Amino acid sequence: MKFFSTLSLLIGAASAAAIAGRQDSKTPDTFHLKTSDSENSAHNDLYVYGYHTGAGLNDAVLTSDIETASKAYLNGTTVLFDYNTNFPWGLAPVGVTNYAAWQFVQINVGPGQEGFSINGTGLQWSEQKGFGGWLVCDWWHNEPQLFYIYRYYDAKYPASCSEVKLVTEPTA
Ligand SMILES: *[C@@H]1O[C@H](CO)[C@@H](O)[C@H](O)[C@H]1NC(C)=O
Ligand SMILES: *[C@@H]1O[C@H](CO)[C@@H](O)[C@H](O)[C@H]1NC(C)=O
Repeated sequence: MKFFSTLSLLIGAASAAAIAGRQDSKTPDTFHLKTSDSENSAHNDLYVYGYHTGAGLNDAVLTSDIETASKAYLNGTTVLFDYNTNFPWGLAPVGVTNYAAWQFVQINVGPGQEGFSINGTGLQWSEQKGFGGWLVCDWWHNEPQLFYIYRYYDAKYPASCSEVKLVTEPTA
């Protein structure tokens, strides 16, 4: 009995070391951002991708097609997307400067916004910067689009919108 518990402790320590080693390595763990937990089933299991809107600019739009999904990784507290360029594309929730209760999320050239983290509920952004959760609305690119709720106002969003979680799904 004693032997077995020592053994499992050793195995636990070894896998913890393996995980720490992986995080230290140069190649980051990449993931897709996927919606879940929406009351609207059409807003679940959708992947974030960059919908080109101008030079260096994308809106964060959603697709069920995993081939279209954008590959992301966490760098410190920024979320960067890999579009096979030699510069990063950062996840960039647009700041609220217009008293809006929810706001766009973009994927633009550069590091994007700081303040992201991942926990058991999925991707979180900075509450200090106003993050109050993710919102998906059927919008003007003719596809569901990602927004965030600005936590300091009461969001009375239209019926085509629903609150979602954004979970990370490791890429192969
Ligand atoms: C990742 O973060 C580090 C530290 O903030 C920064 O120096 C580096 O430029 C970032 N990498 C990319 C690809 O933006
Ligand atoms: C993740 O962080 C958010 C924001 O701080 C919090 O509301 C949520 O409960 C956290 N989830 C877990 C599983 O800790």
